[in-house]
Amino acid sequence: MVVLADACHHDLAPDALAFPGARWGKMATSIIIDTDPGQDDAVALLLALGSPLDILAITVVAGNVPLDLTVHNTLVVCDVANRSDVPVYAGAGGPLEGVLVTAEYVHGPTGLDGYELPDPTRHVSDGFAPDRIVELVMGHPPGEITLCTLGPLTNVALALRQEPAIAGRLAGIVMMGGGFFEGGNTTPAAEFNIFVDPMAAAEVFRAGIDIVMMPLDVTHKVLSNAARVDAFKQLGNHAGEVIAGWIDFFDRYDREKYGTDGAPLHDPCVIAYLLEPELFSGRFCNVEIETESALTRGMTVVDWWGVTDRAPNAQVMREVDADRFFALLTRTVGML
Ligand code: BDR
Ligand code: CA
Repeated sequence: MVVLADACHHDLAPDALAFPGARWGKMATSIIIDTDPGQDDAVALLLALGSPLDILAITVVAGNVPLDLTVHNTLVVCDVANRSDVPVYAGAGGPLEGVLVTAEYVHGPTGLDGYELPDPTRHVSDGFAPDRIVELVMGHPPGEITLCTLGPLTNVALALRQEPAIAGRLAGIVMMGGGFFEGGNTTPAAEFNIFVDPMAAAEVFRAGIDIVMMPLDVTHKVLSNAARVDAFKQLGNHAGEVIAGWIDFFDRYDREKYGTDGAPLHDPCVIAYLLEPELFSGRFCNVEIETESALTRGMTVVDWWGVTDRAPNAQVMREVDADRFFALLTRTVGML
């Protein structure tokens, strides 16, 4: 096992120390990435593929676009990084209950609009993603694998239903999902990944796994402004050029919706946490998922102020050093 991310309290950003109850520990850097690309997923994949992280598998779920496209896009992104060695498994084509909600209005009809790329050089690997998650986690010693989730939590919930013991064997889950002070981006209350499959999210948050959560509150602070996109172009490599093309497409939605200078690179926050956890700070508190209400379905109800006696179950991040985040991202992509 490789352990890169050792964020003891003395390593934390000063703000983090002001948050009572913060609990940071080691996250194993043998990882499984569960994803639904999506341009920001794709950037997260390139960050991971260019880093020293040991990627055991990439498991794919339906989300931003239907499963056939998210699988296609994952294979394409591996090709951009020349990493056809990493196994890619297809998983759930829709949420545990109800119909799939997608986000072509953000990501374009392919999910990865913005840069024309050739078809993948290989096929998806044999096996159903939740089965492979179970096999990998049960086949490794406890605490060796961190699950990185960049999309709806359907594959993870299916794996937990099949083998609840994976909860005790994972080092933890680092996830992009939810929002609290920032509200939602899909409904006023719900962030997209949780909204697509609230039942799955509820099961994952109740499983007793050490969760690090990257909500909109932190991801809306890592904006791909013109200077940062230009830094990708200046790298002079294929991956940098592709990322600049994706962002040029992806950021029009957020510029129009929020009036921000660039788009939030949500999913790369998950991978950046494994590489440099001290970039982030937040608070260890209870998070529950609303699964019933028509008005707030998919809301992450974060007990930030500790006003209930519900046990803390997640490290909820709220702050990020955006300049250092982009420096890490650009530097790592530059190595591809
Ligand atoms: C999340 O939803 C998707 O559109 C992005 O890929 C990210 O995972 C942000 O709400
Ligand atoms: Ca995603």
